[in-house]
Amino acid sequence: MSETVSCEGIPFPSFATGSVSLIKYVEGAFPEKSVVHLAVTAEGKAPKAGQFYLIKAKKSGVLLARPISVYSSAENTDGTVRVEFLILVKGQGTAELSDVSCGDEIEILGPLGNTFPNPDGKKKIAIVGGGIGVAPVAGFAQNLPEKSYDFFAAFKSGSYGLENVKADKLVITTDDGSVGIRGMITEALDSQKISAYSEVYACGPMPMLAYIQKICAEAGVKSWLSMENRMACGVGACLGCTIRTTEGNKRCCKDGPVFDGAILDFTPPKIKPIRDYRLPESEKPDLSVEIKGVRFKNPVIAASGTFGYGSEYSSVFDVNLLGGICSKGLTLEPKAGNTGVRLVETPSGLINSIGLENPGIAHFIEHELPVMKKFKTTPIANLSGSSIDGYVEGARLLDKTDIPMIELNISCPNVKAGGMAFGMDCVAASTVTKAVREATKKPLMVKLSPNAPDLVGIALAVREAGADAISLVNTFQAMSIDVETGRPVFDNVKAGLCGPAIRPLALRMVFDVVAAMNKLPEAERIPVVGIGGIATWRDAVEFIMAGASAVQVGTATFANPRAMIEIISGIESYMKRKGFRKLDDFRGIAQ
Ligand SMILES: Cc1cc2nc3c(=O)[nH]c(=O)nc-3n(C[C@H](O)[C@H](O)[C@H](O)COP(=O)(O)OP(=O)(O)OC[C@H]3O[C@@H](n4cnc5c(N)ncnc54)[C@H](O)[C@@H]3O)c2cc1C
Ligand SMILES: Cc1cc2nc3c(=O)[nH]c(=O)nc-3n(C[C@H](O)[C@H](O)[C@H](O)COP(=O)(O)O)c2cc1C
Ligand code: FES
Repeated sequence: MSETVSCEGIPFPSFATGSVSLIKYVEGAFPEKSVVHLAVTAEGKAPKAGQFYLIKAKKSGVLLARPISVYSSAENTDGTVRVEFLILVKGQGTAELSDVSCGDEIEILGPLGNTFPNPDGKKKIAIVGGGIGVAPVAGFAQNLPEKSYDFFAAFKSGSYGLENVKADKLVITTDDGSVGIRGMITEALDSQKISAYSEVYACGPMPMLAYIQKICAEAGVKSWLSMENRMACGVGACLGCTIRTTEGNKRCCKDGPVFDGAILDFTPPKIKPIRDYRLPESEKPDLSVEIKGVRFKNPVIAASGTFGYGSEYSSVFDVNLLGGICSKGLTLEPKAGNTGVRLVETPSGLINSIGLENPGIAHFIEHELPVMKKFKTTPIANLSGSSIDGYVEGARLLDKTDIPMIELNISCPNVKAGGMAFGMDCVAASTVTKAVREATKKPLMVKLSPNAPDLVGIALAVREAGADAISLVNTFQAMSIDVETGRPVFDNVKAGLCGPAIRPLALRMVFDVVAAMNKLPEAERIPVVGIGGIATWRDAVEFIMAGASAVQVGTATFANPRAMIEIISGIESYMKRKGFRKLDDFRGIAQ
């Protein structure tokens, strides 16, 4: 860590690898094991009260370090500093930080931000902490003379982080009455009570800070409020954490996190969370979907090429639970696929160059289709080709079977002839769709390529040409170069990127295509099935909120073979929690 200290004695931030010197669950927190006490020892100077660090376990799955306030700190004689944090486990980043062991390496950037200003000493001060917001204000209290302050701590249930608080008066409130006064901070403080103090220092959830700001304004008392916002750089460079104040934009990381309460704007957000009405325990939401008369028991379908023909995974989990299964891409003649490297992993995705290896449609009809049909889920044949004649002949063969639906793949980036070429412009996409439409009466879902310059135009063109549904997206054209040889890794040079990396792009594309459909008269619209990096129920719900009728899951199954099952049960729990009886209750609500 840097030894450089500002004129005010505040150390400048530096980046270091520290080592975990303490990790334990915090007693008194509820639910149990929801808060950890983490101490990190690293080179550097002690931070000041109110400052924070961006911290990340060295072995981490998250991209950005997470901002965490200093709870306590001490300089050691060997030039190192021990910084302690209280961390509430919320998402992946904090879950990782709660899962480290003593001696593990932690990357820390800091100390960051400003500090709580010293009290003016005129009267006693009040310190207020809500939930995990207790950590920074308890750290601040440690540096004050004993009994020079009253401390108010508000929790939902239980209490923690107050060991070092030596207040004149310590008041605890809990929503459930498990400790101290039953109720929220409003039970302990109002504008009259707050007028007994010269200044108020607070950190906690927004509604609590808004209340403190309001009662301080009414009582004419100065407030110092520690704010939170999402952060990337933490040093004031990216402007990602900006909050609006009466003095203009302020960076939460650099100009804060501690702000004069008088300049903050706590206008409640205009958009409120969607309803929180829980379905009765006895009521199960209906997850089923119908696309052109074909019923799927739920909206989760295995994406083509990632699930074989279903039997490959049948001993791994109950494949019957799936909404549907798309077969591997099928061509008229058997295909050996591409030579050379076929898979390259990237930090958040997978590049593949399989090249449509498959046994041919006749073989599929005789051998794989009967197996697919044994599962109590809806099979879909993914029809691929390198010429219009090939597509048409394949469609004719499939038409004679009882497969309920065909997915017309005009988007494979991994074959030299045909494939994606049919999905790149409106005329080619329309021509092949029309030809296949004439060859089969089966419901036809056309799978589009994200590489097309005018995806919406192509979606409308294939609808016009007879598609009953659209699925998107196939993989994004990508590449990889071997730095030892200086040559492209894939024999075909370019290959297809899928997995979490493409999810936000795919979501935007689904949103755009649904928006274009919505502009048509209702009878002319066709359903859109969302594909691309879907790995959790949340991802699936996002696509459905963008307007997708169903979703397909590909790469996620490789990382977690049970991903689709977890997605299905996650969607069901979400619908129960939100009081949604059917998917239509939230489909397209983001449009
Ligand atoms: C100045 C400051 C001090 C903080 N001090 C503490 C503390 O002492 N103890 C503690 O438990 N928590 C603290 N937080 C909140 C903590 O940073 C978030 O809970 C944490 O970043 C969530 O990350 P996650 O991976 O668990 O959650 P996810 O929801 O998976 O995170 C997703 C993304 O959103 C961002 N994000 C989500 N919620 C927040 C949030 N409230 N604030 C900032 N970024 C967020 C994350 O950085 C990440 O980029 C502080 C936040 C700030 C800004
Ligand atoms: C190994 C592999 C093989 C694939 N094969 C096909 C295929 O034969 N036909 C097809 O339409 N899509 C194929 N895809 C694309 C997927 O069906 C899906 O559209 C894409 O991977 C994006 O979804 P994901 O991010 O959930 O994986 C393949 C993808 C992978 C990873
Ligand atoms: S996080 Fe980059 S400016 Fe604050």
